[in-house]
Amino acid sequence: MQIHGTVRVPGDKSITHRGLLFGALARGRTHIGGALTSLDARSTARVLRQLGVTISPLGPDRLVTVQGRSRFRRPEGRLHCGNSGTTTRLLLGLLAAHRFRATLTGDASLRRRPMRRVTAPLVAMGATVTAGPADGLPLEILGGRLRPLRHELPVASAQLKSALLLAGVAGGVEVALREPAPTRDHTERLLRAFGYTLETRDGWLHFAPTGRLEPFDLQVPGDPSSAAFLVGAAALAEGGELRLTGVGLNPTRTGFLAIVGRMGAAVHVEAGADQVGEPVGDLIARPAALRATDVSPREVAGAIDEIPLLAVLAARAEGTTRFRDCGELRVKESDRLALMAENLRTVGVEAEVQGDDLLVTGTDAPPVGPVRTAGDHRIAMAFAVLGTVPGARIRVDDPACAAVSFPGFHDLLRSVRAPARRA
Ligand code: S3P
Repeated sequence: MQIHGTVRVPGDKSITHRGLLFGALARGRTHIGGALTSLDARSTARVLRQLGVTISPLGPDRLVTVQGRSRFRRPEGRLHCGNSGTTTRLLLGLLAAHRFRATLTGDASLRRRPMRRVTAPLVAMGATVTAGPADGLPLEILGGRLRPLRHELPVASAQLKSALLLAGVAGGVEVALREPAPTRDHTERLLRAFGYTLETRDGWLHFAPTGRLEPFDLQVPGDPSSAAFLVGAAALAEGGELRLTGVGLNPTRTGFLAIVGRMGAAVHVEAGADQVGEPVGDLIARPAALRATDVSPREVAGAIDEIPLLAVLAARAEGTTRFRDCGELRVKESDRLALMAENLRTVGVEAEVQGDDLLVTGTDAPPVGPVRTAGDHRIAMAFAVLGTVPGARIRVDDPACAAVSFPGFHDLLRSVRAPARRA
């Protein structure tokens, strides 16, 4: 397979969610260009509309307009967050400071995901949460007058960190947090732009409500987590070169580039100008012979969404790759730790879970067999990439679930594999 072309991946999922949520609480008109229009982004827009925010339809190449209000309206009915953990957790932070009851739910995958990590500190701040015996959705939150919070996060999670910072914003109180490992910092960057104080001292992040949310213009960069799948396809190709333009290069998101680089992948980064506080540039990826590597717990935290893709690259690398301390993968859109190992074995790759580590041994044999996604977009895309190697015969049970984060993924992957046109 040859790879070729210059493509732009859809807008960043994390930044799109944050743009919509921040715009929703800024009284006046916010404009978001390059917003992701995937199912997850639509979930955020849908629940915000139920809370009284006017948001123009999300569509490819359409500028999104958010008519924000400084306080949300009590919603009619349940807030259905679809498949989106980011929507649920960040919204919980904002709702903690609103004095009405709201019930949040989601699809079967989201209902199983842990919420106590977010609700326990929000309760400590003054919110009231009513949930079932299991740690998940549905749950009801009644916001209140919030107290300041000082909290050590039990897991490295940008969703948790952001939820608590947003509670600080909506409740007008100080929040001090300590993360076990650095995670994406889009929330902090946006808050600083609005004049909020965010300082790191002695390993603690200190937030003070010194700012004010105002309507803004945001241009969302391409999602590096989406770009990673195409970088992976380029690495596994037999020739050619792929350029990905306008990709977000925030260092808290590009951990996967260091890992694939160590595996021997040829990825060149062409840094461009910053876009509203976020570094952006092009990635140029070429095929390469891959070798195994050891991925540390800190690296796992910094490339948490890219582990499924890295695991399929490890399946084509010489030697055994170990991903250390991947326990968080068990509570993503699926149990990615178990499901990656199971699917790799089904298609003929040696893979096992040891404690919280994932071990994958590379092979040259063509991967053949069925893949069970459990509706998990990143599992579907990772195995679609593995399915591009010569002789592969992989049948992904639900390829369409890629639309959760990357609408048009399969068409884009096909288009960059078409024979190169002569100049
Ligand atoms: C996200 C944080 C990560 C990531 C998710 C998006 C965010 O989740 O997996 O896709 O936008 O803050 P965790 O915070 O649960 O690790």
